[in-house]
This record gives sequence, structure tokens and C-alpha cells, in this order.
Amino acid sequence: MCGIVGYVGSRGSIEVLMGGLKRLEYRGYDSAGVAVLDGHGGIDTRKHAGKLGILSDDLAATPLHEGTTGIGHTRWATHGGPTDENAHPHLGDEGRLALIHNGIIENFGELKAELLERGHSFSSETDSEVAALLVGEAYRETGELTAAMLQVVNRLEGAFTLLAVHADQPDVVVGARRNSPLVIGLGEGENFLGSDVAAFVAYTRSAMEIGQDQLVTIRPDSVEVIGFDGQPVEAKTFEVNWDASAAEKGGWPSFMAKEISEEPEAVAKTILGRVDDSGLVRIPELDGLDEATLRDIDRVVVIACGTAAYAGMVGKYAIEQWARVPVDVELAHEFRYREPVLSERTLVVSISQSGETMDTLMAVKYAREQGARTLSICNTQGATIPRESDAVVYTHAGPEVAVASTKAFVAQITAMYLFGLQLGQVRGTLDEGRARGLVRELQAVPEQLASVLSSGERIRELAKWMADTQSVLFLGRHVGYPVALEGALKLKELAYIHAEGFAAGELKHGPIALIEPGQIVFVIVPSPRDPNSLHAKVVSNIQEIRARGARVIAIAEAGDAAVLPYADEVIRIPLASPFFEPLLAVVPLHIFGMELAAAKGLDVDQPRNLAKSVTVE
Ligand code: AGP
Repeated sequence: MCGIVGYVGSRGSIEVLMGGLKRLEYRGYDSAGVAVLDGHGGIDTRKHAGKLGILSDDLAATPLHEGTTGIGHTRWATHGGPTDENAHPHLGDEGRLALIHNGIIENFGELKAELLERGHSFSSETDSEVAALLVGEAYRETGELTAAMLQVVNRLEGAFTLLAVHADQPDVVVGARRNSPLVIGLGEGENFLGSDVAAFVAYTRSAMEIGQDQLVTIRPDSVEVIGFDGQPVEAKTFEVNWDASAAEKGGWPSFMAKEISEEPEAVAKTILGRVDDSGLVRIPELDGLDEATLRDIDRVVVIACGTAAYAGMVGKYAIEQWARVPVDVELAHEFRYREPVLSERTLVVSISQSGETMDTLMAVKYAREQGARTLSICNTQGATIPRESDAVVYTHAGPEVAVASTKAFVAQITAMYLFGLQLGQVRGTLDEGRARGLVRELQAVPEQLASVLSSGERIRELAKWMADTQSVLFLGRHVGYPVALEGALKLKELAYIHAEGFAAGELKHGPIALIEPGQIVFVIVPSPRDPNSLHAKVVSNIQEIRARGARVIAIAEAGDAAVLPYADEVIRIPLASPFFEPLLAVVPLHIFGMELAAAKGLDVDQPRNLAKSVTVE
């Protein structure tokens, strides 16, 4: 989704804006532009369809007038295709005002008609240009950019983050947000605005939240936040625990390769500080949901999208087992519109790496309107979804830049497990001895993950060998089923290959008809030590598909000899109890998806058509 950067200070604004947009590239975009106040009473803008490189080459060839105030934007096309004209910034007040926008202005049609009636003409097909012209008109009335923005945002419906600058106010950037991301970077004699902290973390790690329906005015030495009602707001500050290098590749061939290598650390850091001296889970952030509330819950509903939803599906098994409370996992965009029955005893747990996924955010808002309690599991500090929730358990996976989620997935499962363990302890359904044992097993996972990573060579070879395959199936059972879904999603979104994940038990109810000679099937094999004897069932599933010519790649724990006669390949993972197996079994599938995409010469970090954070519904 769109990347947004704003700057006021003493640095050359182009350097800050382009550097910030570069670090926001991962959000996915198809055009880019900047506007700078040229210090001579004018505004200079440059914008192009395509990647940032096109814009930076043009700026190198034909530099803008240097200035110290500006705004920058990377656009993911919604209204109007990815063209130079539709790229942001858009101008108002006869070119004396520039504005950038992330989101969708739902009432832009009627507003555009009004502007046309008043004689305005448009150079783009975008809803954003409507906002630029409206703020330009309002500026003519108010003579002040903050007041002009305040007047206009109260007329807009939908989701928007807006930034604007005006030639008359060379050291001011004004921003406003509703249902769309914006965060403030606090510097010395300089201040920043960004879609997320990656926009300015190279310059400052002090940040300030800006809430729903709030407007911010930044100058080099001041930051003022007001509500859309014009009243001052006391905004919360926080320290960013990422550093700029964390958002860079650090020598890896891709962000995805780097982030897969960080999966052990993502799990370890998510556990850190959440196990007390007695070896029991104690999540400090859960204080927003006191123990009485946690005991009173009679149902948990997990809402998320994509990979985050699969992490929720894994967590479901554990929470039901440890806390003995029913857990449903729903795709946020389905949950939101089926008018689910919720009560104040329902806990709605949202899972989101970005914390800005509009489908999930709107579902959280719906849940709150229905009186449910809300807990956010999120990887991005200060993001919108945690701010809309009663409590948040942050995953500490660090910045996840590749569009395909990997380390966040294992961190999300870890956070779900920690929550499930604490919930079981609070509700008395998990005795302390068993809880301590499970905590110790969870604490062993980072090392086990590291050993899986170190034995990734065979899976890399398989991926290269299979580069021309047109279809891959994934089978899993119990907690292995969501892993099968995740493996399939990775192949779809990275290698653009048809892939499908199934519950292994579902095979004979239809999918087995897909099996023909040479069909590649990954099978996540449960531990032979599992109490439900699912292992034997899955081994017989392998026999059924082998009998029909499938090529089976089994992911099985070390020492499991039962699979050897039936699998063409066996990828080994360390011994772990059933609930922790997903954290290990998914790593070969992440590597496989990445390597197969690389073997096809595809962009592993920014797959086609996708954005890192889907901030539109
Ligand atoms: C994961 O590989 C995908 N890029 C996508 O499914 C993602 O998990 C989903 O869009 C949810 O994003 P979020 O975690 O930021 O809410």
C-alpha cells in the first residue's frame, strides 16, 4: 500500500524524502513522487509511474530546487491506473499547494462534481486530487494550512492519510488520518511524518502516535496534534526498537532470505520478558485485560487475513487445549460482514504483522461496537490496530520488509502460544507443572529452528529442480493443516504457481482426484509420538497418493522411519511436541517458496500485484 513521508528541518528534504520512500518500498507501489518547498516562495514537484529508480534518475538528471520542507509518496493504484498523471503529489490553489494521500475517499464523486461546478479542472482520475483542490480552496478562505486541512477532513468519508504543504508556509507540513496509517518522528530541530516508522528511523527513533480522526502540524521545532473537532490532543510518544540497518538487507540476496534467517530470533525475542522467574508465562502488556476479564471469557474469535490467519489457526489448537475455551478463527473480511453474534464475554484476537490491514482493522472496530473485548497481536509498534484494541501483545520479529510474511508468522504463533499458556494459567485449566514444561519446550524452539535453517540445502536443490512445476499440493493434519495452507500461499504469492493446502483427512472426500502421476505433494507428517495417532493416518494418506503416482516430499521429525518406504524425499525437522512442530515444519516451506521463485527469476521481495500492507478493503 502507499508509502508516505513528510519532513521539516534543516536537511535537504529530497535526501530525507527519497530515503524514507526507499525504506517504505516494501509496502508495495506502482508510482512515486515528491514535492519540496523551494525556499523561494514556490513548490517544486516531480512524479513518475513505476519504481522509485525512475524518479531518482530523473531527479539526478534534472534536480529540483533544494529545500528543507517536503512530502513524498509511493502510490498503489486504486482510483485510476499507475500513470504519471495519477501519481502523487496533487496540486491545489493554482499550484501553490501540494498534497499526498493514502486510502480511499468514498464520497469523492460528489465532491468532484462540486469542484467541477465551481470551475475546477482535473489532471488526474484520482480521488486524491479532489482533496488537493478542496484544501487549496479552503486555504484561500483561511489563509492557514492547518485550518484549511481541518475544514476539509470533516467533509471526507472513507479512509485517508493526507499530507499537505503550501508555498506560503515554507516550514510547515500538515497531516491528517482516518482509518489509515500515520506516525510522527520527533527530531532535534526537525520533525517527520511517515506511514510507519521505517520512513524516518534512519534519523530518529523517537516517535509519536497520531490517533483516529486527528490532525498534526509539524514545524522544525514544534509538533501540534488536534482532533478533527479542532481540540488539542495529548499524543503518546514511544521509542522505536528497530534501527535503520534492520530495515536493510544486511548482505542477504533478498529481504525474504534475511527474514527467514531471523526466524529463530523472532521467536526468541517474542518470548523475551514474558516468562517470570518461576518459569510461568507473564505477559506484562496483558494488564489491559485483567485476570477477572480473562477468566470471564467464554469464547475466543481470532480474526486475521492470509498468513496471519494461518498463525491464528495454529494457535487455536493450543489455546483450546490449554485454556479449554472455544476458539474460532475467521477471515477478517468475512467476519466483518456476516453480523457475528458477539458479547462482552467474547474475546476477539486480531493478528496482524503491519497492524494496518484494513480488513482486520474494520473487523476489530466492529467487534468493539458489539461490546467484545479485543486483543491485538501485532508486529508494528504504534500501528492502528493495536491502538484500536483493549490490549496488545507485540511480536518482536523486527521489521518484516518482504511482502511474503515469514518471521512474523512464527512470531505470531509464539505470541498465540504465550497468550494461550497465560490464559490456561489464569483460568486454572493448565497446572503449573505442565505449564512450565510447555514453556521450556517453547524456549527450546529458537535453537531447533536454527538447526532446521542450517539443513536447508536439500530443500533448495528440490526447489531448483522443480522450477517448471505447474502445481503443488500440501497436506497436513491438526496443527499441520494450517502449515499446509501457509506453504501453499507462499508458492502462490512468490512463484505464481497454483498450489493448494488440504487437511489430509479431506483427501478421500474429493482432492485425491487431483492426484496423477508426477503430482508433487508436500506432506507435513505429525510426530509418531503424538497422542492422537494421527501419524499412522497421515502415513496411510501418503501411501494412497503414492499409489496414484504422486511425488511425495515428507516433512517429518528426525528418526521417523515409517515414512521412508513411501516418500520420495524426506526433509527432517528436530523432535518437538505436537504443538511446536508447526514452528519447525514451516521453515522448509518458506525456503522452498523463496528458492522456487528465485529459480524462476521472480522478484522474491515484491511479488506482482501484492502489497505488504493491504490498507484498503
Ligand atoms: C503473507 O505472506 C501475505 N503477504 C498476506 O497474506 C498477509 O499475511 C496478510 O495480508 C495480512 O497482513 P498483516 O499481517 O499485515 O495484517
